[in-house]
Amino acid sequence: MKVLLLTVSLAMILMEARGHIHPQKNFDLKRFGGKWFRVGLAYDAPSFAQYRSSLRVIMGKVDPKDNGDANMTVWRTKAEGCKSKLYSYMKTTVPGVFKYFSTRHKIIKDVTVVETNYTEYALLFKYKKFNREYSQVSLYGRTQKLRADLIEKFKKYSMEHGFPDESIITPPPAEACPLPSH
Ligand SMILES: *[C@@H]1O[C@H](CO)[C@@H](O)[C@H](O)[C@H]1NC(C)=O
Ligand SMILES: *[C@@H]1O[C@H](CO)[C@@H](O)[C@H](O)[C@H]1NC(C)=O
Repeated sequence: MKVLLLTVSLAMILMEARGHIHPQKNFDLKRFGGKWFRVGLAYDAPSFAQYRSSLRVIMGKVDPKDNGDANMTVWRTKAEGCKSKLYSYMKTTVPGVFKYFSTRHKIIKDVTVVETNYTEYALLFKYKKFNREYSQVSLYGRTQKLRADLIEKFKKYSMEHGFPDESIITPPPAEACPLPSH
């Protein structure tokens, strides 16, 4: 009985830990603006497993708006070439937490900037209020390569939030997409 109770309370503590996603303190959108590379992704959806090995670092650009919203442009290499996609990040009452409409899943999703030092890296958590299957942790870098301790921090954070080891990926560098002139 004691063991069972202990197990139950441990499970509840773990669930509690997973449920709480805190944004970066004093989040500053202006400083978060500019170019980022997604150098790490933790994504546990079964439908995504087959794409893990073909994943590459992708580039994104955050354009802050004066009202606290932001445009997030992401570039991906597709069969027809380098394609950009724009996401409209809408501010919420919590600085560092945004909402956007996912055209793929046809729902509003949330994204939280969990931790960033603006000049080097950022840790993001997506869809905390939504179906667990679509949850993701991303590690962004101002460059395509980040220090090993930041990679470790990202892996540890992902594991603490229930992502299994095989779902945590640090993909190889991207081909030039967009072209350097962009
Ligand atoms: C955000 O994107 C919209 C649509 O492309 C554009 O009209 C607007 O100027 C952009 N805002 C910023 C701050 O980049
Ligand atoms: C934050 O960024 C600066 C500049 O790149 C870097 O030197 C510093 O080590 C970073 N701090 C942390 C805690 O990663």
